This record gives sequence, structure tokens and C-alpha cells, in this order.
Amino acid sequence: MSGTPVIIDTDPGIDDAVAIGIALASPALDVRLITTVGGNVNLENVTDNTLKLLKFWNKSVRVAKGAEGPLVRQLVDASSIHGASGMEGYEFDGTARECLSDKVAVEATYETLMASDEPVVIVAIAPLTNIALLLKVHPDAKRKIARIIMMGGTITRGNKGVLSEFNIATDPEAASIVFNSGIDIAMVGLDIAWQALILPGDIDKIRACGRTGKMLTALFDHYRGGSMKTGLKMYDPTAMAYLLEPGMFETTTAYVGIELAGSLTAGCTLVDLKGYLHQEPNATVCTGIDADGFRDWFVSCIKNCG
Ligand code: BDR
Ligand code: CA
Repeated sequence: MSGTPVIIDTDPGIDDAVAIGIALASPALDVRLITTVGGNVNLENVTDNTLKLLKFWNKSVRVAKGAEGPLVRQLVDASSIHGASGMEGYEFDGTARECLSDKVAVEATYETLMASDEPVVIVAIAPLTNIALLLKVHPDAKRKIARIIMMGGTITRGNKGVLSEFNIATDPEAASIVFNSGIDIAMVGLDIAWQALILPGDIDKIRACGRTGKMLTALFDHYRGGSMKTGLKMYDPTAMAYLLEPGMFETTTAYVGIELAGSLTAGCTLVDLKGYLHQEPNATVCTGIDADGFRDWFVSCIKNCG
């Protein structure tokens, strides 16, 4: 198999499901492992959902279960957005149970990284708990990580707190470990998906995309990240878009500080665009996207899912 080697860390999640479909269908990527983490819903459900998607798309990729919840905080899930199961609205025909590894995410990730001839890209579209644990348990894994492209954080307003985004605010301590690791990080925050809503006309085109279109629009009907009438916020696919089509994005480099202690602001990403904090940049931060280009790309990727 050729293509960029990739590990996806995820918590499906309706927008995760689309991101996973796009990655599995892309000839430019070689998805070597999918790790799951408690986030949008609990670990059992997000793992089951991942295995359902693999069966649906008839793909054989190793899946490893990770952390049940954040490093030090209690998990407060997002079932109000994705439904109780995390992928509410479609009756899947079973799970690819044979893909489930008997290793936990940290060990399966380490094994996958060390077995790779070239450094691997981690696409992190969930709370960063598994990645932080990997860096603590196996610090030597760093040299095998080409970069981490993560959906998380915000330059402007939040969706979990006033100024905080779900993936970061769910496990700020993990995010702090990852952002301060020295690894090449790309942050694709909330602002990007808000600039590039998937509009009713795009959803009509997706509905016409065979069995994948039918399945995804059934999920979209239950997704509360926007609406089918006014536009859907497809957060996690924006991280996959940055990996596959970086030319669609405007970026800058900046120091991103993670607020851990704030009584009202824990989990905020302080994207220091003006250097107030006198720190070296630790991330490439996406600041803009070609919205029409993204929408066309998104629909065409779904057409390719089969
Ligand atoms: C992020 O939170 C989750 O609900 C989505 O799957 C996405 O990863 C957006 O804030
Ligand atoms: Ca997610």
C-alpha cells in the first residue's frame, strides 16, 4: 500500500464518521491504525461505531481502544450533539469485530509508529488523551511522528465553553502535554468549519451519493452541529482536508497556550497571534479556508467513498 502513513485518533461522532470515510477512500493515504477515546460518547460506543464504519465501507484497519476519559477530569460527553450512541440515525449492519486489537491504543500506536519506515502523521479528531499518554509512556515515539494534525481549539469563540472548544476543553491537561511536546502541530480549530458550512445544496448532492450518501444524510438528520437547513459544521473533516488539500487553507504560526487553571476559561486555546506571551510558536494555526473549494472537495470525497 502506498500513500502517506496515517494514524487516526477519534471518537465517532458524526463528523468523525465523515472524516474516517474520507481518509479510508483516499488513495493518497495509508491508514495504518485507528485509535478510539472516550469523548463524544463513551469508549465502548465510539469503538463500536468505528467498527461499524469499517464494516460498512468494507475496510480492514486495525482499531485499538484507548482511554475511557480525560487524564484528570470527568468526561462530560457530547451526546446532545451526536445522539446517545454517538452515531444516531442509521441502522448499521454489524461491526468489523475482527479489526479490534487486543492491545490498548498507546501500545498499538507505539508499535505502529516503530514498525514504520517513515514518520507517520497522526490525525487527532478527539480529546488528546491517547496522544498525551503515548508521549508520557513512550517519549521515544516522538521521532516517528511526522506531525499531528488536530481538529481542536478556537481562535475566537467556543462550542463547549464561552471561549473553549470540545476536544481541548474535555482534556486540557492532555492538550497541554501535546502542544508543549515540540512535535510539529497543525491546529484546525472551530473557526474553520464555521467559515465553510456544508449547505443544503451540498447535502442534496451527498444524498445522491449511493449507500454512503444515504447513510451519512441519515446521520446528518440527527446531528446537532448546525442543521440540514442552515448548514452543517463538519469539524473533523476539516483536519483531513488540511492533510490532503493544504492549499485550501490560510495559516500562520503561533504559540498556542492551553488554559488549565482559569475558573471560567479552563480548556481555552490562547492563540497568541501578536506575541504577548513571548513564547516561540508551537503550532501552525489555520486561520482561513476557501469555503467553496472545501464544499466541492467534501462532496467529491463522499462520492469516492463507494
Ligand atoms: C469536535 O468535538 C466533537 O464533538 C466533534 O467530533 C469534533 O471533534 C468539535 O468541537
Ligand atoms: Ca471528534
